[in-house]
Amino acid sequence: MFSCKSLQLGAQAIKASLSKVYRFSKPTSTPTDRPWKLYDQGRALFSTTATGSADGGNEDDQKISVTFVDKDGEETQIKVPVGMSMLEAAHQNDIELEGACEGSLACSTCHVIVMDIEQYNKLEDPTDEENDMLDLAFGLTETSRLGCQVIAKPDLDGLRLALPAATRNFAVDGYKPKPH
Ligand code: FES
Repeated sequence: MFSCKSLQLGAQAIKASLSKVYRFSKPTSTPTDRPWKLYDQGRALFSTTATGSADGGNEDDQKISVTFVDKDGEETQIKVPVGMSMLEAAHQNDIELEGACEGSLACSTCHVIVMDIEQYNKLEDPTDEENDMLDLAFGLTETSRLGCQVIAKPDLDGLRLALPAATRNFAVDGYKPKPH
């Protein structure tokens, strides 16, 4: 009997205790009292933003600005997609950069001069094949490269390339092919 009453008293005490806990932790209906809601909203906002930029972003983010300077000092600024060679970019924009072998490293007619040494230093080192062709280029300089081997990448944004006054093909036969 005693033990049964003790059990009843114990159960009541536990029930009262649980009731207090429940009242204390029960959420109120006021938004400011519900920080987890703000957290959820913030997480949703963050998630939406992250997905948006990963899905595509601005198309200009994938292009860099490149300026070609011709032998008369005339400048043409174009946008070049990352991954495209300067030779292709020049041809797409009617810039007179020859490229007789169409990028197969068998000529030097796509010779360009990188005007900024810092930009030049960001380029991959020329291969032996490129160096061999560069040796044949007209007006070779310390920052000469073959335009078909210079590939657009984000840190080359603002690249300035001078077009030499002539190429070997022009100098020899005067033939001036149209860009492809
Ligand atoms: Fe001939 Fe670049 S186009 S080497």
